[in-house]
Amino acid sequence: MNDFLPDTAPGFDQPIAVLKHCHGRIRKQLSTLERLLSHLPEHGADEAARQAAGAVLKYFEKAAHLHHDDEEQNLIPMLRAVAQGDDAATLQALAPVILQDHKDMDTLWQDLHEQLTAIAEGSASTLSASAVQRFCQRYSAHMEREENTMAPMALRLFSPAQMAQLGEAMARRRGIDAGAVAGSSAAPNAPAIGEAVADLRKDYGQASLNEDDVLDDPMLQFTRWFEQALKAQVNEPNAMNVATVAADGRPSSRIVLVKQFDERGFTWYTNYDSRKAQELRANPYAALLFFWSELERQVRIEGRVETTSAEESDKYFHSRPLKSRLSAIASQQSAPIDNRAALERNYEAVAASAGDAPARPANWGGFRLVPERIEFWQGRRSRFHDRIVYERQEDGSWARQRLQP
Ligand SMILES: Cc1cc2nc3c(=O)[nH]c(=O)nc-3n(C[C@H](O)[C@H](O)[C@H](O)COP(=O)(O)O)c2cc1C
Repeated sequence: MNDFLPDTAPGFDQPIAVLKHCHGRIRKQLSTLERLLSHLPEHGADEAARQAAGAVLKYFEKAAHLHHDDEEQNLIPMLRAVAQGDDAATLQALAPVILQDHKDMDTLWQDLHEQLTAIAEGSASTLSASAVQRFCQRYSAHMEREENTMAPMALRLFSPAQMAQLGEAMARRRGIDAGAVAGSSAAPNAPAIGEAVADLRKDYGQASLNEDDVLDDPMLQFTRWFEQALKAQVNEPNAMNVATVAADGRPSSRIVLVKQFDERGFTWYTNYDSRKAQELRANPYAALLFFWSELERQVRIEGRVETTSAEESDKYFHSRPLKSRLSAIASQQSAPIDNRAALERNYEAVAASAGDAPARPANWGGFRLVPERIEFWQGRRSRFHDRIVYERQEDGSWARQRLQP
């Protein structure tokens, strides 16, 4: 385990959480320093005082510098590269203050360094109260500044790839294999992570959505947003959640890939014996959900589901790579099977007998949801989001209105 981070530290795949965690460690050291101040007059440089002084020295001599370097060499330059408008102005004012803080804190630390070294060695027991106070106050204000502005800005502006880049740089600085960053570097700790979820708070503010911005036809509006999702290279832009409801009224949901959308609706392909297909047979109403986190957008779509024509399903089936077609034939989707080996045997048997141009199995094809309601959601600051919903009218036209966030 790295010396400078305790076992419960978040992984470097969450670099902003790591920086915040470092602040927690700094606050602990500052409070040790303050306790040492009141301990020394009564107990002198006893064992407890020597250990406390040693711990504070160790932290501020090394780990604190790594933390400053993370900000100076990575976080601030990366923010400068992406910040625009108000963010750029905030950063322009803030970055010099942060850098000056680092310099001033280094100077203030020099005052304490000598005194703490003597205490750690047991050769002196004096610690300047004013030096401790100045150091603690400056550090606390500095951390607050960063937590209130730079950290939320990074969470808002950095793409997953930029977060990974920051995490890798920070890990490298601490001599940790950057390759390990992609996974979780911290051991799984379900209760702690479960609680920490409450602190995951991202403010949105990239864009707004006004009644005047949106197009009259929600399918054209969807097309516009989809193109923007493609342009922004969001992760799996055509992945959508499909929620169905079984005959007993219980809902279930899963991700599928939308393969076509047009004035008729949203089409995906699947197995007609699967759980979703069985539920749709019992209740043809479903809900789709796209979440494009990089754009702080979601689109909710509700309507009735129909099957695509055999010709359409054939056309799409034959456009797929051969191995995907063989998989579709070999898998009785949603049915239990003993183990992976049995699944592989089924695939091999199909591959051996199906030839190069297997026919589409009758139980595989498309579903199309014909929308009756489409809602566009754009994240805004402080959870005061924009929502515009379209509802299909009896005459086939669309009416739209704003919903409260
Ligand atoms: C990103 C992603 C894309 C998926 N695309 C499809 C798809 O297009 N069709 C499909 O049948 N299953 C797809 N799946 C698998 C489904 O989520 C699900 O496991 C499967 O359809 C069985 O669901 P069911 O048992 O509820 O019918 C995808 C899963 C993921 C995570």
